[in-house]
Amino acid sequence: MANEFEIKKQICEIGKRIYDRGMVAANDGNISVKLSDNEFLCTPTGVSKGFMTPEYICKVDKDGNVLQANGNFKPSSEIKMHMRVYKCRPDVNSVVHAHPTFATAFAIAGIPLTAPIMPEAVIALGCVPIAEYGTPSTMEIPDAVEKYLPYYDAVLLENHGALSYSVDLLSAYHKMESLEFYAELLYKARQLGGPKELSQEQVQRLYEIRRKFGLPGKHPANLCAELGGKCNGGCHGNCGGKTQSGTVSGADVEKIVAEVTKRILSQQ
Ligand code: 13P
Repeated sequence: MANEFEIKKQICEIGKRIYDRGMVAANDGNISVKLSDNEFLCTPTGVSKGFMTPEYICKVDKDGNVLQANGNFKPSSEIKMHMRVYKCRPDVNSVVHAHPTFATAFAIAGIPLTAPIMPEAVIALGCVPIAEYGTPSTMEIPDAVEKYLPYYDAVLLENHGALSYSVDLLSAYHKMESLEFYAELLYKARQLGGPKELSQEQVQRLYEIRRKFGLPGKHPANLCAELGGKCNGGCHGNCGGKTQSGTVSGADVEKIVAEVTKRILSQQ
């Protein structure tokens, strides 16, 4: 792993990218990186993520308590959301939260990103559900996203923005970029009369490619296989589940979680 100063520089670089790409306005968004089980670097609250230098970056423990911070800098007000991701997903080493225009518009309209409309998005991104609205900076957001974390690598936050996470900082950022690109394409295709979705067979072949690549993270390809065709809208509809115009609601996810748990227990 790169040394701590290098990682702080990388966080500043990604902050600049999300700002320059219009994925955050003013002081919005936050980024974190896991250094060890009890040490995490994160962006400070209330600053533009487009203009940070390494001394802005704070260090916190697994409960979000400050271990090190310069001057008046305090950790992001959304640090609890980041910590919940690390707690629920030991494979994750970086979390990015932003408000990209198209993805956030879908989060505001209440439309999850589950339509199989292009191969790259099906393979790399999977599906992106919407976590129920929570007041920023409170435990409502971590509590709302928690049930989606074991099954997805990105989540929309209702009426708020988007959350992505992955094995490292660049991958977590790329996930945010792919999510926004996908949302923009879906939005534009809808303007042109609606997307022509990939067929079930085409989706299934893309899932096979993903399995062959052995890509890290959680994905509907695994969800579908685990549930034997009863994912109830949590996938791209390749096993008869609902797709884009259907929504992956909290109730749906609870059913998915219950079904997965039942199947895992029955295998023991
Ligand atoms: P922070 O500046 O506290 O990280 O908050 C920004 C934000 O986007 C809250 O949702």
